[in-house]
Amino acid sequence: MKTYRIATIPGDGIGKEVVPAGAEVLQALAASGGGFRFEFEDFGWGGDWYRAHGEMMPADGLEALKGKDAILFGSAGDPQIPDHITLWGLRLKICQGFDQYANVRPTRILPGIDAPLKRCKPEDLDWVIVRENSEGEYAGVGGRVHQGHPIEAATDVSIMTRAGVERVLRFAFKLAQSRPRKQLTVVTKSNAQRHAMVMWDEIANEVAREFPDVKWDKELVDAMTARMVNKPATLDTVVATNLHADILSDLAAALAGSLGIAPTANLDPERRYPSMFEPIHGSAFDIMGKGLANPVGTFWSCVMLLEHLGEQEAAQRLMAAIEAVTADTSLHTGDLGGTARTADVTRAVIARLAR
Ligand code: IPM
Ligand code: MG
Repeated sequence: MKTYRIATIPGDGIGKEVVPAGAEVLQALAASGGGFRFEFEDFGWGGDWYRAHGEMMPADGLEALKGKDAILFGSAGDPQIPDHITLWGLRLKICQGFDQYANVRPTRILPGIDAPLKRCKPEDLDWVIVRENSEGEYAGVGGRVHQGHPIEAATDVSIMTRAGVERVLRFAFKLAQSRPRKQLTVVTKSNAQRHAMVMWDEIANEVAREFPDVKWDKELVDAMTARMVNKPATLDTVVATNLHADILSDLAAALAGSLGIAPTANLDPERRYPSMFEPIHGSAFDIMGKGLANPVGTFWSCVMLLEHLGEQEAAQRLMAAIEAVTADTSLHTGDLGGTARTADVTRAVIARLAR
């Protein structure tokens, strides 16, 4: 029997509730037969670790993760620690350390979910956003001088490399090609940003030639927000820069009904390193520790994890169980207007898997 070694990193806030729920569901899936088993190792990194050790994860933390088949991550963020420290010290350290350059964010309106776009049928909104995940606006390059003085200056320099842009565009074209509509929208801001964004457009033209069967178009990021709201059915696969796709994916999640549902995969498509799967939501201190978090974003992330491991049948089984559960509005958590608890949703998904 195949054994998959999975690292779990709950992180902070509700991550500590949804990641154990995700691990429980994966265990149940393996137990219900599929020819594989999971071996979990839990890493208590995040805000508490920072308070105890002065860093979000140990300096040799990546070494401990290196041999894993995948990572299930919760969220990083702590009211007592500046956000840029929690982000750069843990999540980005793993994403960049393992060169997980393709961040994949599917969005659909799941059964039973009341989405805000009233003219949009559920089947009109079936998107996958590919976010460049290794450079761009998140390159971390910049500086700050003369702090506190009137002449203070600061820069955050966005770095776009031909290699980085080309590989994420190629990934996105390939993903679009694998989906029924074979359609890709390349988002930039090349009217205002006349260097790197123009390079994106040019490289998109070049890479497109490798994919003659993919229909593709370009959209400026501001116009893209309006198109997502007004003409959702005209979109399928989308690729954008690190920051643009960060923003667009929150909009996408909200249009699909809740941030609590949306999943993410941080992929190293070349499989040199483990890839990392996480719900898109943050650590949500307002509800943490109360058992109220929606675990669906984590469960859907587990579906992506299974797909990445090549366990397509198990992935489909879990997705079907999730959809059966969202269809039952008595199993909706607070973010969806319901009163169900994390444990109720988890139990229901597991019961469904056992059928
Ligand atoms: C995301 C999140 C993060 C990001 C935050 C937590 C820094 O919003 O994964 O979309 O901006 O990358
Ligand atoms: Mg975001």
